[in-house]
Amino acid sequence: PDLERWVDKVPRPDVMDSSGTKNGQPHYEVEIREVEQKIHRDLPATTVWGYNGQYPGPTIEAEQGEPISVRWKNKLPDEHLLPEDPTIHSDIVPYDTTGVRIVTHLHGGNVEAESDGHAQAWFTRDFQETGPAFEKKDYYYVNEQPPATLWYHDHSLGITRLNVYAGLAGFYLLRNERERNLDLPDGEYEIPLVLQDRSFNEDGSLFYPTAVSDEQGGGDESYPDPGIVPQFYGDTSVVNGKAWPRLSVEPRSYRFRLLNGANSRFYSLKLLQYDESSNEIGNEGPPFVQIGNDGGLLSSPIKIDDRLELGSSQRADVVVDFTKYAGETLLLHNDAPAQYRGEMSSTDDDIVSLPEIMLVDVGGTGDTRDNDQLPDNLTQIPEISVESVDNERYLTLNGSATDDYGRQLYLLGTGQEPDGLELDDPVTEEPALGDTEIWSFANLSAMSHPMHLHLVHFQVLGRQSLGDYDPAEDEINPGALEEPAPYERGWNDVVTVNPAEVVHVIVHFGEYDGIFNDQTGTYMWHCHMIEHEDHDMMRPLEVRPRTD
Ligand code: C2O
Ligand code: CU
Repeated sequence: PDLERWVDKVPRPDVMDSSGTKNGQPHYEVEIREVEQKIHRDLPATTVWGYNGQYPGPTIEAEQGEPISVRWKNKLPDEHLLPEDPTIHSDIVPYDTTGVRIVTHLHGGNVEAESDGHAQAWFTRDFQETGPAFEKKDYYYVNEQPPATLWYHDHSLGITRLNVYAGLAGFYLLRNERERNLDLPDGEYEIPLVLQDRSFNEDGSLFYPTAVSDEQGGGDESYPDPGIVPQFYGDTSVVNGKAWPRLSVEPRSYRFRLLNGANSRFYSLKLLQYDESSNEIGNEGPPFVQIGNDGGLLSSPIKIDDRLELGSSQRADVVVDFTKYAGETLLLHNDAPAQYRGEMSSTDDDIVSLPEIMLVDVGGTGDTRDNDQLPDNLTQIPEISVESVDNERYLTLNGSATDDYGRQLYLLGTGQEPDGLELDDPVTEEPALGDTEIWSFANLSAMSHPMHLHLVHFQVLGRQSLGDYDPAEDEINPGALEEPAPYERGWNDVVTVNPAEVVHVIVHFGEYDGIFNDQTGTYMWHCHMIEHEDHDMMRPLEVRPRTD
């Protein structure tokens, strides 16, 4: 449907209420249900899945040092809303369960393994059936990590792309007193924004492709139908669950918690002046001043002069000062070709690009508090020293394999034959608690991949071209690498790895300098383009107890 743009207001997700206490700590009971929701004024209500019946889910507000527990309750119907592909992990996933399999992962959470939402810890309605990694009903989040923009989303093996697309995602904001004392814009001036792309049918239902379209390279007759698509790009921008919405602000500073909640799409963002009547883009609008990313605050605010890039699941905590734009309309503009920095034809790019994300109407009057109050120092971020490295891992991102049906299969490898492993191949990444490691992601494929580690936050050392680094011969010399972009500083749990490059990140497993906490057990690491994660760029991460 050809939807008129900018007719609905951006909604603010509700804040989740706790349902009482358990062991003296706040306890939440969250029902995951199918509901009808209006995504656009002119579109009939859309059937979506929502935490407590809301898409996006209500925001969990948590405090550093105050653990909570959550019972994620599956109340979904018998059948999936979207077409499943039973060939994905068919040997370890039962596609014949009564009821849909779900499991919730707290993305960016430094949490115990039993509560991490492992892809095989899925469960069906009322816990009738459970997956092999299922351990407990009530998840425990210890909240011993810096305040940050975390988010929760579904992670069920083989159908994560479909469950998230159906609506299963929400914010989890972790705060502390120190951050409150920074006097950042708060209350109504702090707004979480999840950016997604969706496609719709005329009747309002969600459209998700059941097979590769001819425009996207065509499907082979032998491909399963319904079958997974290699990437998904929707034709409609959806922000906080509304299609092409607009946001009214006062001419003052705001704090936005930006989240790329899209399945595959990259965003590269800037605010531009916009003339709505002529549809014309004007000069630059106010810059994003970034104050934090995945793992929490940056050490000091960084003005983004160029564009703010977000791969799937990445967060940016930004302050925008609208003081000088009173009475104007601004466009949140995206110039990322969907298949980011990969090779694709210009026709492909037309199909998938999504330049217009959201409008911002700056009021002529109101509170005019400006940016001047942003402190120079936000937090202390200790640099993990390369001197302390116990182990280096060379990890490949491969696009050269095909599956049993001849479909392209993206895999993660170790550089050793076979250089491409599936989720249930033996564990290869098993650091010991307390170890510091460098993970070098080498992208041998033709497109960018946002790589994510569960449990931990890493620091990006830098990038170099693939040809310049051979793990058998070359030392990693941080000084000689292309530096991380401003928005890649600090603590990250996702990093974008572009084609033909190696990105080196340094990571410590366990508490570090009083930050984070010790956990051992089985987690995962994967590409966060969810179609890739499902098929099959996901591997176990096993943190072993220390033995020495
Ligand atoms: Cu946001 Cu393993 O995921
Ligand atoms: Cu990928």
